[in-house]
Amino acid sequence: MQHETLKLIAARLNQNLEAGTETWAESDLVHRASTYNDAGHMAAELAVMRRYPVIIAHSVSLPKAGDFITDNSLGVPVLVSRQSNGGLKAFLNICRHRGSPVCLEKSGSTRIFVCPYHAWSYRSDGSLLKAPSEQGKDAALVELPVEERHGLIWLVATSGAKIDVAAHLGPLDEEFQGFRLGEFVQERGEVLTEGMNWKYVLDGFLEVYHIPKLHAASIGRYIHGKFSLFDQFGLHGRLVVVRKALDEKRRLPLEDRDLLKLIAVNYVIFPNTILVWQGDHFELWAAYPGGDPAHCSIRILSLTTPQTATEEYRARWDKNWKILLDTVQQEDWAISKRVQAGIPYLAEDRIVFGRNEPALQHFHGQLRAAIEVS
Ligand code: FES
Ligand SMILES: [Fe+2]
Repeated sequence: MQHETLKLIAARLNQNLEAGTETWAESDLVHRASTYNDAGHMAAELAVMRRYPVIIAHSVSLPKAGDFITDNSLGVPVLVSRQSNGGLKAFLNICRHRGSPVCLEKSGSTRIFVCPYHAWSYRSDGSLLKAPSEQGKDAALVELPVEERHGLIWLVATSGAKIDVAAHLGPLDEEFQGFRLGEFVQERGEVLTEGMNWKYVLDGFLEVYHIPKLHAASIGRYIHGKFSLFDQFGLHGRLVVVRKALDEKRRLPLEDRDLLKLIAVNYVIFPNTILVWQGDHFELWAAYPGGDPAHCSIRILSLTTPQTATEEYRARWDKNWKILLDTVQQEDWAISKRVQAGIPYLAEDRIVFGRNEPALQHFHGQLRAAIEVS
């Protein structure tokens, strides 16, 4: 984050802390509860997600030429392969003969993909190497737009679409550069599947209102349930959350201290990702719809500096990871599953994102607008 941005945040946080307030929206937003359990609505969300760059991995997953990963996060079978020039190419993982997946492994390294059905083979640039007869002439794998930026692999799951991650991120692109996000390495990564709608993953990071109650015994001891600051950047948003450690240090003006250690910054990267600055590392949470509205998968990455991604720091990151997963699984997602189960029984098809929850209002508003456009 740039110094100027931090100074502005510090000034506004000082005001919030003095006045005991936080960023509020103009009014409450009434929202359709069935957006969490309607299959047609989920199909519309998936269609939106396939139009935007979505993070599917960290660059570290494919370090050298020939390395590949397969992915099915958005319900589209994808094969990503590191090229000999160091760049990436992504393809539909679908053979041009009769449609078998060309590659069945999750990851690996190869120069040639041999289809497991009738053995058509493809080079790692997607071109057809060998088909037994003339029928396969010019049948390369269908390419998908892919880009590496900020150390992450972004994909648009629609063939023929364009990708420009910097343009997509707008001002946040510079902000991530200010953090040198591209130099962070993946200390740990995991994909979980959970029995709840994918949007609950984001919702949990987009208000601090629930922290004192739901997380009373865990992170509620360290994080305030108020004073947060919200800013929107087009499709995306930034919620600055205040740590209680700040209270003990309030006698100095905020900008004179290492503010980045006293706040957490929750970025929402449209359409499906939360990136959290945790004071010394990032967490990335990318949520993808599952086979039905009550299931999802979640890619969680812990990103640290190369200096701290070492054995020496292992115990600390292990502890961190455990606290993280325990908190979200036993607290946030446990309540989300209960909430989801109650939706069909609501007296009316409505829930409320309050004035004190502007980040939630913004995210759901952007998603609704994107669905309406398509
Ligand atoms: S489907 Fe791939 S070779 Fe036949
Ligand atoms: Fe939470």
